[in-house]
Amino acid sequence: MDRKTIAFIGGGNMGEAIISKMVSSDWKGTDIHVIDHNEERLEHLASAYGVHTHKEPGSWLAEIDAVVLAVKPQQLPDAINASKEWIEDALVISIAAGVRVKDLEAMIGHNCICRTMPNTPMKIGLGVCGLYSTPEAEPDHRFIVKVFAACGDLIWCTKEEELDGVTAISGSGPAYVFRFIEALTEAGLRYGFNDVQAKRMAIATVLGSAELAKRSGESPSVLREKVTSKGGTTYEALKVMNDRHFMEMMQDAMDACKKRAVELGDAFHESVEASNK
Ligand SMILES: NC(=O)c1ccc[n+]([C@@H]2O[C@H](COP(=O)([O-])OP(=O)(O)OC[C@H]3O[C@@H](n4cnc5c(N)ncnc54)[C@H](OP(=O)(O)O)[C@@H]3O)[C@@H](O)[C@H]2O)c1
Repeated sequence: MDRKTIAFIGGGNMGEAIISKMVSSDWKGTDIHVIDHNEERLEHLASAYGVHTHKEPGSWLAEIDAVVLAVKPQQLPDAINASKEWIEDALVISIAAGVRVKDLEAMIGHNCICRTMPNTPMKIGLGVCGLYSTPEAEPDHRFIVKVFAACGDLIWCTKEEELDGVTAISGSGPAYVFRFIEALTEAGLRYGFNDVQAKRMAIATVLGSAELAKRSGESPSVLREKVTSKGGTTYEALKVMNDRHFMEMMQDAMDACKKRAVELGDAFHESVEASNK
């Protein structure tokens, strides 16, 4: 099926981030619809991106080719119930964290579904989005890529469980990097730089290193070794990190994140089962 139009159920932070990147690429605002409770949000989205806006779903939704579920996980059952009768033929794309395909299928009533895990840098087109689709949605992969193409890097998962790993690395990853920037900034302040200088130094260091890692043909460990001569200054800093088990700490942090993603998925599944009894 050749899909063209799309409706977002939820026009909040993430919904707007995706829409803004879509209209900055080759999407027309007139092919995009947004349903949201919040009238102010709708006015903002209509004027900023030229999209169609709706306070409620309705029979018009049956004409739309794809639906993006962009509400909080706990809002999902109500949002799907209100739209269900009109999305029988739509490709359904979910960005709800931790909500599994089998639970989406149970709520929607069909399995043409793509589950995604985006992250916040996609607001500036530098995000990472993990995607997993059912076989039924495979013919729609080109359309799905068109939705997220301007958001950043797309990582297709072959198994749904891989999305828990995406959550632990790139989904929550921006928070780890922001924490690291906070640490560099704090050192800058301790060493007598002002707030602006400390922040600039910290951000430029992370940005420049990430860009170098991306552009250089060398691995991050080789790049690290190149700034680390034995007995030198960087060597001393990395020795402290090693003594404090930096790598193990990071692995433990990501394992804890991944475990929580599984637990939240289980809890959502149990709530769906309970409401079906
Ligand atoms: N933030 C992240 O880093 C991140 C990363 C990956 C995935 N996600 C996922 O993205 C999803 C959206 O998160 P968000 O931060 O964009 O949430 P958000 O800012 O709260 O946006 C959700 C919007 O949907 C509206 N809404 C709620 N129920 C609705 C319904 N039944 N019909 C129509 N509109 C409805 C909300 O209105 P009210 O406020 O009036 O309820 C709100 O405007 C979540 O499932 C989250 O797990 C977020």
